[in-house]
Amino acid sequence: MGFPEQRPRRLRTTPALRRMVSETEVRPRQLVLPMFVKEGATGPVPIGSMPGVVQHSRDSLRKAVAEAAESGISGIMLFGVPERHDATGSASLDPDGILNAALRDVRSEVGDEIVVMSDLCLDEFTDHGHCGVLDAQGRVDNDATLDVYARMGVAQADAGAHVVGPSGMMDGQVGVIRAALDAAGHTDTGILAYTAKYASAFYGPFREAVNSQLRGDRKSYQQDGANAREALRELALDLEEGADMVMVKPALAYLDILARVADASDVPVAAYQISGEYAMIEAAAERGWLERERTILETLTSIRRAGADVILTYWAVEVAGMLDS
Ligand code: PBG
Repeated sequence: MGFPEQRPRRLRTTPALRRMVSETEVRPRQLVLPMFVKEGATGPVPIGSMPGVVQHSRDSLRKAVAEAAESGISGIMLFGVPERHDATGSASLDPDGILNAALRDVRSEVGDEIVVMSDLCLDEFTDHGHCGVLDAQGRVDNDATLDVYARMGVAQADAGAHVVGPSGMMDGQVGVIRAALDAAGHTDTGILAYTAKYASAFYGPFREAVNSQLRGDRKSYQQDGANAREALRELALDLEEGADMVMVKPALAYLDILARVADASDVPVAAYQISGEYAMIEAAAERGWLERERTILETLTSIRRAGADVILTYWAVEVAGMLDS
């Protein structure tokens, strides 16, 4: 039986019918807000390429996190912007370094009300801007970086992170962090693994957000956008190493990867709608070329439909507000 008995438009006739048969929902509890905290800042510093997003001072961060908790979203992902950068990113290990100090502030502000997650990576802290330490030839040294990540994980858990998010794409990162956390007694600290993270042009505005001076590119550790199978290999390894949740990043240009990872994963799957995805829509909306709210909600619905349980988005709090009404 086909047309004219079959008329798919019937179910689109009224708003109530459309509402009844809608398959995919975006709810505030699925959203996580990435946030930046800048050492030495006396107030929020706007990020030019991400209108509406700021580098917080420690004070303004506390207030913004309390508001985020109020909004009904599930969590935050915190990035530190240190004043001092060096070759090994040593400020990442200092208990009084900006990221660790801010994690303590945040936990004292919101307790367990929302999930406090922290970026576990070196690019914010190194003077060369790479996600790991370099060897004598200037290449990113995988295994030397793992030692730093392990200690960074413990420092962040000591500071109060509920979940750490290793985003550097070093081989073996999840396993060494899990072992270090367990050895330090942090058996309940979770790991959100950046499992399939692609070398993407869409990270552009993030460099401004963390004042990073990257020399070169990240193609020797982040994945090639041409490759899909590799994401499943990374997934198998991360699960074996003990990842509690896995993530695909960026989101919109990688929805096929997200769908495949979501199919194959037996742990919750997150997707990160990154800085360039944010900037692109904000810029078009500012020119009146796109309807801002509709576009934002459409992208989030697509990311959910592709299989994300959790979405990191710079619009998290604003969207929670839209969904309430
Ligand atoms: C690495 C990291 C990056 C982002 C999150 N974690 C930058 C990169 O890999 O180049 C990008 C997030 C965004 O663009 O919104 N610490």
